[in-house]
Formats: sequence, structure tokens, C-alpha cells
Amino acid sequence: MEPASATAIILAAGQGTRMRSRTPKVLHDLCGQPMIAWPVNAARAAEIERIVVVDGPDRALDGQLPQGTQIAVQERPLGTADAARAAAAHIGAGDQVVVMSGDAPLVSAALLAGLLRAHRAGGAAATVATFELEDPSGYGRIVRAADGTVRRIVETKVAGDATPEQLAIREVNAGLYVFDGAPLLDALSRVGTANAQGEYYLTEVVVALGELGATVGAHLVAERDQLLGVNDRVQLAQVRAIAQAQILEAHMRAGVSFEQPAGTLVDVGVQIGADTVIEPGCCLRGRTQIGEGCRVGPHATLIDATVHDDARIVHSYVVQAEVGPSANVGPFSYLRPGTVLRERAKAGTFVEIKNSDIGPGAKVPHLSYIGDADVGEGANLGASTITANYDRGVKSRTVIGRRVHTSVDTTLVAPVTLGDDAYTGAGSVINEDVPEGALGISRPPQVNVEGFAARRAAEGARG
Ligand code: UD1
Ligand code: MG
Repeated sequence: MEPASATAIILAAGQGTRMRSRTPKVLHDLCGQPMIAWPVNAARAAEIERIVVVDGPDRALDGQLPQGTQIAVQERPLGTADAARAAAAHIGAGDQVVVMSGDAPLVSAALLAGLLRAHRAGGAAATVATFELEDPSGYGRIVRAADGTVRRIVETKVAGDATPEQLAIREVNAGLYVFDGAPLLDALSRVGTANAQGEYYLTEVVVALGELGATVGAHLVAERDQLLGVNDRVQLAQVRAIAQAQILEAHMRAGVSFEQPAGTLVDVGVQIGADTVIEPGCCLRGRTQIGEGCRVGPHATLIDATVHDDARIVHSYVVQAEVGPSANVGPFSYLRPGTVLRERAKAGTFVEIKNSDIGPGAKVPHLSYIGDADVGEGANLGASTITANYDRGVKSRTVIGRRVHTSVDTTLVAPVTLGDDAYTGAGSVINEDVPEGALGISRPPQVNVEGFAARRAAEGARG
């Protein structure tokens, strides 16, 4: 049978008590996606046709899974065999059933395909993916028969199931199996709870299959990193480090430089063009897209940001904003949702911009807040130009024409429009439109009080 006609059942209804979290274990983030999305995507990439995730009765995973994934509900978390049984309605007698763990996220499509091939070639009723660990603690141990088939899997999570000899076995159960459908259904109905945890262990299916006269093969996998399980936050950090290293490696092979990979976070959904350099301390999150030839960092955080070719972003925080070709950001800019910097535009030092369009070559160099504004091509906003865009719950727009120069400390009280080539005077509060080419100035005239210092000194002498 071709892999396309296999069914994957991904167990994900456990309580995840060792995480000590209010969030279900498989919804913890792993490089920008919930952990459960990783095995689902691997099964899909392996062209496994039907993918069923076993969820708890509150269906916490509903809406969190990639499109086309089905959910089966395990009413109570009575163990992994019970979880598999909860998906029995999706198991056809003639199917090949790949049972996966929602908490083993790094499995690749190639590994799944290799396991399916081994199962078909081996002719056993079930094939268990196994791997070897220096420290196998917590994993089920593989007890082989003399002929190499799997006689039992012994659980070790709590004391009582395994003997000291079995604990010394370093070959462990990956929690990843291929079963022929009919014997799986048969064996599942025979599994009981006579063990240290009083749970229905899926691993007991091995003994049940033996009683039915079927054999179980082992597929020893060398790529152990792909099979690591996540049961607590220490293991989550270990798995995340591996996933992060893989993500960075793929970018590096595609032409992206990371000056300090160890301190750099890049989510799995991020795209980066060739010849872009990511300097130390960057976090590139979500659906961020970066073009070619950019320099980002040091210390830039980009969340769902779009950055076009040859842009430069230093020490800045960019959220759902767009940075145009050859645009300059930072140091210390905060670009908020809806901001678009057009080509060669600049957002400089201590500048916050929200929901604004900054035209080609326009500059907001220092100490400004620009919200709900359209800034024309080539405009230059003086230091501390501020839009007063918000009044009693109403946000209004500021329109700044092409080549406008605002002087320092200009307050633009929206709604207000500055025509092309207009100027403002330093310290002005502009609450009326400034026509094209005009200077808007609103500061009171200066008064010089002659002899002030001498008079003050004389007053001081008199006491
Ligand atoms: C399990 C295996 C162990 C293997 C290890 C690999 C069993 C009994 N043990 O142990 O041999 O070495 O995985 O990582 O299978 N789940 C449910 N419903 C439940 C219980 C669990 O859906 O009632 C799900 C969990 O959400 C999890 C997966 O099954 O995704 C495995 O459960 P977990 O409790 O993590 O089993 P391990 O102790 O890791
Ligand atoms: Mg586990």
C-alpha cells in the first residue's frame, strides 16, 4: 500500500502534568507554532492521507490545527492505548495506521516515510520506531526477543513497571509506530490497566499482538534528535534549541548570514532573502518576511513584519509594519501596526510610528510620534514633530505633503493638512491647514527684557 493511503493518529489528549501549565502541553509554542502543528505538518509532508488528532473533551486543539486535520475525542485521559482507541472509528481494517505522539514534534516526513517502508518490508503486524539514548530515563524500554523482534515495551515513568535489568536497556520507544489496522483494533481491545500507573498503555499492545500470534518489528532510527519527547519545560527547551538550530541552518544554506546564531530567534514561518545579514540579539517572529541584502540588528525584534530589499534596521521593534526598499530604521524606533515606510524612507532615533504611510525618501529622524498620518515623498519632519491624532475617542488623520519641512517641536493637531513644500516654524502648534509652499508658524513673538540679570542681582543684594 502506498503511504498516501495511510492514516496518522496523533495522540494529544494527555494532561501534560509535568509541564505544570494551564496551557495544554501540545499548545506550547515551538518556534512560532504550537507544538502539535509540527507532527501534523510532518505527517502531511509524508503524504499520509488522513490525519486524526486525539484531543480531550474540551477540544482545546480545535482551531489550532492545520487545515484538514480531524479531531477524535478521548473523554478521559486514561492512557495512550485508550487515546488510540478513541480514534478507532477512523481506523479501517485494511489501513496502515501511523500512531504518533503530539509531544514528539521534531519527527520529519523522511523519517515517517522510512518507518512506513520498513513496516511494509518487514511484514510484521506492527513496527515500532526506536532509538538509543545515553540517559533513557522516562522512556519505555525495548525488550527484544532473540530473533530481534520486539517482545515487550516496559514503561519507566514511575517505579514498579520495570526491573533493574530492564532499566539498564538503552534502546527506547519513540512513541511512533505503524500498525496494520485489523490487528491494532483487536489488540487495543485486550489492553488492561494492570500496571504501576493504572493506565491503558499503548505499549501493552505489543504483548497483546504476541498473544494473537502476530509479531512486532523494531525500526532503529539513528536521528535521535527527531524523536525526543517533550514532557516538561526542560525537554521543551532542549527540543526548541534543536528546532532553532535547524531553522537557522536552513537559512544559512540559502544565503543568509547570522553573526551570532546562538542568541538569535527565528520562527519557523519567517522568510529571509539571500545576502541579508542578521546581527546579534534579533528576534524574528511569526510571519516576518525579509528581502535580500538587508541588515537587521543588532537587537531588533520583528513580529509579522515585511522588510524589503536592502533595508537597514538597528535596535528597533517592528510589529505588523512594512519597511520599504533601502529604508532605514533606528536605532530605537518603534514601528507599530499599519506603518508603511516607502523606499529610502527613514524612521530614526526614539521615533514611534503607527498606522501611517511615510513616503519615498521621507524622514522622521528624531524623537517623534507619528500616528494616522500620510507623509509625502521627500518630507523631513524636524525633531519632536508630534501628531496629536487622538481626541476624546476619535482618531483623525494628518496629511503632510511632498517635500514638507516641519521644524523642531511642531505639534500637528489632526485633522490637519500641510500642502506640498510647506514649512512650519519651530515650536508651532499647527491646528489649521498650511497651504502649499507656505510657512505655518504659531509661536508667540519673543520678548527680550533688557538688564534683567543686573536688576535681579540688585534685588538679591537688598535681601
Ligand atoms: C510514552 C510511551 C513511552 C515512550 C514515550 C516516547 C506509553 C505508555 N508510553 O510515554 O513508551 O517512550 O511516550 O515519548 O505510551 N496521551 C493521550 N491520552 C492519554 C495519555 C497520553 O492522548 O490518556 C497523549 C499525550 O498527550 C502525549 C502522548 O499521548 O502526546 C504520550 O503521552 P505521555 O504521557 O507523554 O507518555 P510518555 O510518558 O512520554
Ligand atoms: Mg511524552
